Amino acid sequence: MSFISSSEKASLTLPSDQDASGRTLGEEEILLLREVIESGTLTSTKGSMVSNLEQRFGALLGSKHAYACASGTAAIHCAVAAIDPEPGDEIVTSAITDMGAITPILYQGAIPVFADVDSRTGNLTTEAIEQCLSERTRAIIVTNLFGNPADMVAIMELANARGVHVIEDCAQAYLTGVNGRLVGTLGSIGCFSLQQGKHITTGEGGLVVTDDEELARRVRLFINKAWGYGDAKPDHYFLALNYRMNELQGAVALAQLEKLDYSVSQRQLMAVRLNKSLEGLEGIETPYVADGAAHSYWKYCLWVDGAKVPGGPVALGAKLKDQNIATAPRYIQKPAFQCAVLRDQRTFGNSRFPFTLARPEAVDYSPEKFPGTFEFLDRVLVLPWNERYEEQHVDYLANRIVSQHRLLTQTEVAAQ
Ligand SMILES: Cc1ncc(COP(=O)(O)O)c(C=O)c1O
Repeated sequence: MSFISSSEKASLTLPSDQDASGRTLGEEEILLLREVIESGTLTSTKGSMVSNLEQRFGALLGSKHAYACASGTAAIHCAVAAIDPEPGDEIVTSAITDMGAITPILYQGAIPVFADVDSRTGNLTTEAIEQCLSERTRAIIVTNLFGNPADMVAIMELANARGVHVIEDCAQAYLTGVNGRLVGTLGSIGCFSLQQGKHITTGEGGLVVTDDEELARRVRLFINKAWGYGDAKPDHYFLALNYRMNELQGAVALAQLEKLDYSVSQRQLMAVRLNKSLEGLEGIETPYVADGAAHSYWKYCLWVDGAKVPGGPVALGAKLKDQNIATAPRYIQKPAFQCAVLRDQRTFGNSRFPFTLARPEAVDYSPEKFPGTFEFLDRVLVLPWNERYEEQHVDYLANRIVSQHRLLTQTEVAAQ
């Protein structure tokens, strides 16, 4: 028996952020790229695209300093290196994030200490962070997952009281706010990604913002092999890499920045429509957004209760796949601490450094310490989403979710 009526049979291909259908790239990017090519200056040390991008992004966020770099991973690396932890110092973070937000901690000789998350949002909770703080904590990296802000007011209160830096990972959270203030500007440093599938893209790229003069100086240096450009007696002041963005990327990013507002507001508009269409579906919750917070919907996630929807997000995802809709149950297959690099401490040769310096409690990854993390992964279903979704796409998605949900839940009733 099928619950899809004949009017629903036509399949629609949803816009994809992996190609032109789901990206907003066009003449504006080509014009600036042409300018760079014709100038013959492809390096940002001499050109003006990247410096313009930095200036405009800083102005947009109201940050004193903004720097472009090679990727979101590089942005996090710059932030950690700017804080300059001693080997074995700890950085509290989430296990539900991209590995690019974690490996920079290890490269800087520090220990990632995982705190549990809110099972509805996948964001760190203040209570869980507090339990992980120790004498050795130097920073907290807060991911605003999918564009939904973490509880930044309470987290900042805690961090300020304990004298710990907060790095905001906004790779997925452009122009998202709490109480009217933008994430990325609330902590010591904000980091963004311009990777292919983000709100705006230049293929690969990153941005870092801060108001702190000393952190800004170190971020700028870290991007540039710590060479003191413009100083009276420049030197390579400390261990650092070449994380520069080039002018070609800068040109595309500069054009993309003009489209950021559109990207965020279109995603938000369509999310409101989808929320309404899915209201009241037994066992399915639409994204939870805290009072005072604004969600910028990098991705739109459903929270699926396997007790009410047989097979949970995995079964619903499989049904949607049959309908030509590629979803991601679990988002990431396992929490970061179960990935080989962390689980087996595979770092530099056979040294296991810096894990050799870790307190045993800091690297205890017993599942019972992370109930919210596992519950979130068991329940989340990430829907494909981008700024090119229009009403017809959202309605198609909603229609298919409702019909497949009905199939799953009514099969169960029939079997009883
Ligand atoms: C939350 C988060 N942090 C960091 C990164 C790393 O960014 P990139 O892929 O640009 O290196 C990503 C990107 O995928 C991300 O989603």
